[in-house]
Amino acid sequence: MGIVALGYIGLEVSDLGAWSRFSEDVLGLMRAGEAGHRYRIDSQAWRISLQQGDGDDLSYAGFEVADAAAHQALRERLAQAGFVPSSADAQLIAERGVTDLFYCQDPDGLRVEVYYGPTLATEAPFTSPVGGAGFVAGEQGLGHIVLTTSRMEATRAFYQDVLGFRLSDIIRMRLGDAGAMDLEFFHCNPRHHTLALVPMGAPKRLLHFMLQARVLDDVGFALDRVAASGAPLAQTLGRHTNDQMVSFYVKTPSGFEVEYGWGGQEVNEDLWRVVRHDKPSIWGHKRV
Ligand SMILES: [Fe+2]
Repeated sequence: MGIVALGYIGLEVSDLGAWSRFSEDVLGLMRAGEAGHRYRIDSQAWRISLQQGDGDDLSYAGFEVADAAAHQALRERLAQAGFVPSSADAQLIAERGVTDLFYCQDPDGLRVEVYYGPTLATEAPFTSPVGGAGFVAGEQGLGHIVLTTSRMEATRAFYQDVLGFRLSDIIRMRLGDAGAMDLEFFHCNPRHHTLALVPMGAPKRLLHFMLQARVLDDVGFALDRVAASGAPLAQTLGRHTNDQMVSFYVKTPSGFEVEYGWGGQEVNEDLWRVVRHDKPSIWGHKRV
């Protein structure tokens, strides 16, 4: 038993004010409490945390395992594979609102936190400040993250062989005369992919994170809010070949993007077979 969901992410952002407006007014996230800059998308107490800093990148990813036994087993597997898990102290555990937590670094140095027992806030149901039907989260976790890596073999081994992600499919991106690049998509629950790896060295690890609306109209309303806010659209509305998601991409105040989608297909683990695609999108997703 490995990872069962992407539970939360921490983002280091240089412009907290712009991010607050973007998170609430454009993305429709719910502020988690008055203090700090943490946001909810479902009944979990928080999913996205913003910290002031120059990085403008993902600063940590929190992955969930089912229980204490799975937590301990994964910790041992990481240690055997040569990664060095560190125990969180009581202050960090309280801050994250989880039952237990350890952390390590992926091969490119991203801080990966592994926890079980998150805090739910079902007594204060999720309500978006912009209305709508909410997000697909819960057991499918926050959504997905797309990471660059300059060490594909080692990074794949870390996430797939040690953490237990399963390959969903591969998209070959043609780069003109520069050849081609294989993007690999991984799942850890019915969500088609929770993690995608892009084999290219880049100054930043996070290309985008994805939030999935429950109804298509909320993607349309979000597109209208993007236009009204002046936030730069990065890719037009389109449908992906592999997960069939209908989505658009908007540039965040940090430069990386958010994919805002609906209708992603789910993986049935018993029937799933890995396939390849030569294009990322069936229609749309034109770079703006
Ligand atoms: Fe995506």
